[in-house]
Amino acid sequence: SEPIALYERMGGDPTIRKIVQSFYPRVQKDPLLAPLFPEDIEETMEKQRRFLTQFFGGPPLYSQVYGHPRLRARHMPFPITPRHAEAWLRNMDVALDDANITGLIREEMWSRLSFTAAHMVNRPPEDQ
Ligand code: HEM
Repeated sequence: SEPIALYERMGGDPTIRKIVQSFYPRVQKDPLLAPLFPEDIEETMEKQRRFLTQFFGGPPLYSQVYGHPRLRARHMPFPITPRHAEAWLRNMDVALDDANITGLIREEMWSRLSFTAAHMVNRPPEDQ
């Protein structure tokens, strides 16, 4: 029998939608992050919904439309310092609370998210 993907264990599509719908309004209120994001956040939310689906082992909804994620390259136009990564993760932590994600599943998700956030850092700390 195949192992059950994290995507299924976390609750699949409804859970991803809850996370995205909690996360982006928080980002828009975050003084450090808000200036990086477009005012109309709908398209960003839809891209992230598709990305997180495949990131956690669900169907490849992002790549089907946008091709290979190349996340680090796609983030390069935006100045992301360690402090931006911390802020991103802080907002994501609350979004995971809002989606009632706990225990081992949360730890697995957190490990992937924090690794990827660190990987997006593309400016030195003194730029912040
Ligand atoms: C796009 C910021 C980390 C996934 C973006 C955009 C910004 C941004 C400004 C462009 C929004 C737009 O114009 O639509 C940041 C910052 C991060 C971070 C400051 C701090 C480390 C992450 C992480 C992930 C992620 C950890 C995945 C787990 C994405 C995706 C997109 C995106 C999928 C859409 C890419 C596309 O245009 O197709 N991010 N991001 N980001 N971000 Fe991040």
